Amino acid sequence: MKFLTAFFVITAARACTDILVTPGASFEGSAMIAYNADSPTLFGSIYHYSANYSWTSIYDWDSGVYLGDIQPETETTYNVVGNSNEYGLVIGESTFGGVRILAYNQTDAKIDYGSLIWLTLQRAKTVPEAIQTMVHLMDTYGYASAGESFSLADASGQVWMMEVIGRGNDIWDEQGQRKLGAVWVAQRIPDGMVAAHANQARITTFPREDPTNCLYAEDVVEVAVHYGLYDAEADPLAFSFADVYDPLDFIGARQGEARVWSIFSQISADPAFAQHYQEYALGNDLDQDVGSGLFASPYRPRPLVWSLEENAENSSLRSKEKQKSTTQYHNERSIATAKTGWSFVAEIRPHMPRELAVVSWYAMDDSSTAPRVPVYGSSRQIAKPFTGKGSQDGVTTSLLQMDWSKAFWVQNLVSNWCYSRYADVYPVLRREIDDLQADLSEKVKQVDQIALELYQEKGPDAAIGYVTLFGVNTGNAVHDKWQSLFGALFARFRDFYTIVPKNDEPVCGCQAVEPGMSEAVKQRIVQETGDHYKVAKGDKDHPDLLNGENAKESVGTFFISGKDGDGDLFTAIL
Ligand SMILES: *[C@@H]1O[C@H](CO)[C@@H](O)[C@H](O)[C@H]1NC(C)=O
Ligand SMILES: *[C@@H]1O[C@H](CO)[C@@H](O)[C@H](O)[C@H]1NC(C)=O
Ligand SMILES: *[C@@H]1O[C@H](CO)[C@@H](O)[C@H](O)[C@H]1NC(C)=O
Repeated sequence: MKFLTAFFVITAARACTDILVTPGASFEGSAMIAYNADSPTLFGSIYHYSANYSWTSIYDWDSGVYLGDIQPETETTYNVVGNSNEYGLVIGESTFGGVRILAYNQTDAKIDYGSLIWLTLQRAKTVPEAIQTMVHLMDTYGYASAGESFSLADASGQVWMMEVIGRGNDIWDEQGQRKLGAVWVAQRIPDGMVAAHANQARITTFPREDPTNCLYAEDVVEVAVHYGLYDAEADPLAFSFADVYDPLDFIGARQGEARVWSIFSQISADPAFAQHYQEYALGNDLDQDVGSGLFASPYRPRPLVWSLEENAENSSLRSKEKQKSTTQYHNERSIATAKTGWSFVAEIRPHMPRELAVVSWYAMDDSSTAPRVPVYGSSRQIAKPFTGKGSQDGVTTSLLQMDWSKAFWVQNLVSNWCYSRYADVYPVLRREIDDLQADLSEKVKQVDQIALELYQEKGPDAAIGYVTLFGVNTGNAVHDKWQSLFGALFARFRDFYTIVPKNDEPVCGCQAVEPGMSEAVKQRIVQETGDHYKVAKGDKDHPDLLNGENAKESVGTFFISGKDGDGDLFTAIL
């Protein structure tokens, strides 16, 4: 998700990653959807819409812009927690953008993809119902966003991918009315399989006579033909949704498909998979080039694509004058990313009653450095540190006021501390997250057991009350724990030292260890600066480091070097 203008469509559209797991492909027999909502302006919270909440004013999730009012249509709506509901339906997404003429180009359209997700969770129980609801909402009120891949799963264990793109402004019905809404294809993921999408459309050709596994808009080919995107004479059965509506380009492959390639490479039973598709989505190691800084960080600052002015000597010019030329480069787009607002891994357990079917594990920041809190889809309340409304509710969330009481801020503190000293902090943080995850997974098993007993003996209400309490207490406990963790990491990794306990040290009961620099960093410094920092004459405290022949006579001489006002290197002898 998340970009505002046409300009950002080019530079920052590459966001969000989804993984879809079918029950036959998971150890526990659960369907799973993992979704990272990646945007630097998205405040992390778990949205909650109580049953029968009536939502009629629609605001664009990405921009907060008011799009219009819709009819309530139904009195009964379902309890929605994050991206799941009390019937066990879960919906995620990633934005593929797609062809310019159809992306963000439907005048008076009232429903954006974010609102579409939450409106649908309020109204649908199963994936087929959800697809029907989404199509109804888009076609009735217009579709205001760009091309989207949606992930859907329900309590029966069905997992689907649905891809949509708007009909634009120029499709008309027989009565001469502009036809609003979107064209789309939805395919069920075969049981035993895993799918993923990351800002690049994935559905290519699709079957027309298999409605239990594939649904589509009747005019999905027609609209492409109308806009000149598909040859009217071509075989409609050869029509590939992804190739026509979102043709692959370099960035789509290298920053979108490369993430999918990375996911599949790690889980594929076929050892040749990674090699086979490497050309398609070329991936590199992240934590070794100069961008990794002094502390082997896999993170890179945005923008993902950047330009460099280079002086190129042009041999065909008579005077050997240098020509300036601009070359574009890009950063690797990792799955876990600093700008994630919130993310979840939803487990949908077909063997549980629908009220207990979904447990979503929520993080309020970067999916690699933030802890996950389990929340049941039927919960009636969310722990305070995780509550909040979003731009889809017409609410502006402040991102300039640090608030210790909010999980988003505390999790960001820990993550950012980790980014600053990645090689030292990340292993410690990883252990904390893994231990917490193991502990909470055990707890959820126990809570499932008790909730099931309550469900059978006292009914759904008692079970829902119990899992609500569990979610609230766990959320509060994890928030407290993360506050303490930030304090502990701060104390331990301070001022470029690693402070370790040492009881017999009377000053502080500790020792300040110097982690130094990696061999790779040292080599790079020497490569770039040559002899500039070479200890040419040594000093009395480091006799073993003496270089060269004149070492003896120069004991006691110190060199300092740095930059003068003009940025030129200078060396001074004190
Ligand atoms: C929601 O409204 C329906 C009637 O439309 C009612 O049967 C149901 O009990 C209501 N649910 C809640 C939680 O109020
Ligand atoms: C939006 O749609 C109109 C009507 O089809 C078209 O003329 C216009 O070029 C489209 N805008 C973009 C940016 O492609
Ligand atoms: C070198 O300069 C010539 C003459 O201006 C130009 O046609 C050519 O494109 C330049 N080559 C490069 C590599 O910039």
